[in-house]
Amino acid sequence: MQTVKTLDMLRTALGQLRGDGKRIALVPTMGALHEGHLTLVRRAQAVADHVVASIFVNPKQFGPNEDLDAYPRQLAADAAMLEGEGCALLWAPSAEAMYPAGFATNISVTGVSDGLCGAARPGHFDGVATVVCKLFNQVQPDVALFGEKDFQQLAVIRAMARDLDLCRPHVDAIIGVPTVREADGLAMSSRNRYLAPEQRAAAAALPRAMRAAIAAIKGGADVAGALAGLEAEIVAAGFDRIDYAVLADSTSLTPLPALTTGPARLLVAARIAGTRLIDNMAVNPQ
Ligand code: PAF
Repeated sequence: MQTVKTLDMLRTALGQLRGDGKRIALVPTMGALHEGHLTLVRRAQAVADHVVASIFVNPKQFGPNEDLDAYPRQLAADAAMLEGEGCALLWAPSAEAMYPAGFATNISVTGVSDGLCGAARPGHFDGVATVVCKLFNQVQPDVALFGEKDFQQLAVIRAMARDLDLCRPHVDAIIGVPTVREADGLAMSSRNRYLAPEQRAAAAALPRAMRAAIAAIKGGADVAGALAGLEAEIVAAGFDRIDYAVLADSTSLTPLPALTTGPARLLVAARIAGTRLIDNMAVNPQ
C-alpha cells in the first residue's frame, strides 16, 4: 500500500490504479481506526477493484470547544491496519494541503443538517460536507462508503452529492454500512477510547436503553413516554447530558411524534464524563 500526502502524488497513484477502467472505492476516515472502519474497507473490496482510504482529521468539522487537539492521531498504526486489509492507497493530506492559504469555500446543506447533531454542533455538517466534497473531487471514486453510525452525516453527504450533481461518486454509489458494535452492544467509535473502564462499562446502557425504547414503541407505547424512559435509564447509568433522543423519519430526519408505517429511526446523542456518544437504530426498516 502506498501512502501519499500531496495532490500530485495522489493523482499519479490513482492514474496507475485506474489502469484499464478499474473501479475505485473510497473509504473516508479521520483515522484512529477500529473494526468499524475495517468493515467499510472489506465491504469496499467487494464492490470495487481497488480501495483508497483517506485519513484526515478535518479541523472544519470541530467546534471551538470540541476535541480537535485531543482527537487520536496514529497514522503509522492506521496505515498498517489498512495495508493488512489489502487497501491499495492511503491519502493522508496535511491541513495545508487540504486547505491552502486563501481557501474560502463552504458547502452548507440546509434541511437535513439543521436538527439533531447539526443543532448541537453548529457548523459541524458544513465542515463535513466541504471536506467530503473535496475528497470526492480529489479521488473521484466510483463508489464511497460510510458507516451508518453517523446516520445524519450520511444523509447530509447524500443530499450534497444529489444537489451538486456529483458523478464520481454518483449519489446512488454512496453506500451506508451498518454499525459495528462491541460485544455489549456499544457502537464502535474512535471516541470510545476517551472512556475510563467504569465509564466504558456504563456506556453500554445506551444501546440497551435504545433497544428497550424501540420494543416499547413497536409494542404501541407512547413515543414521548418511551423516549423519556430511555433518557431516565441512561442518566441513571451515568450519562450526564443528553443532546437529543428522537424518533425520526429515516430520510428527512424530521421528528415523528408517533410511529407510522414509514421508515423510522431512533437517534440519540448523549455525553458521559464529557465524551459525546451517538447511536441510531432502525425502528421501521427503510
Ligand atoms: O466520519 C468521519 O470520519 C468524518 O466525518 C469524515 C466523513 C471522514 C469527514 O471528515
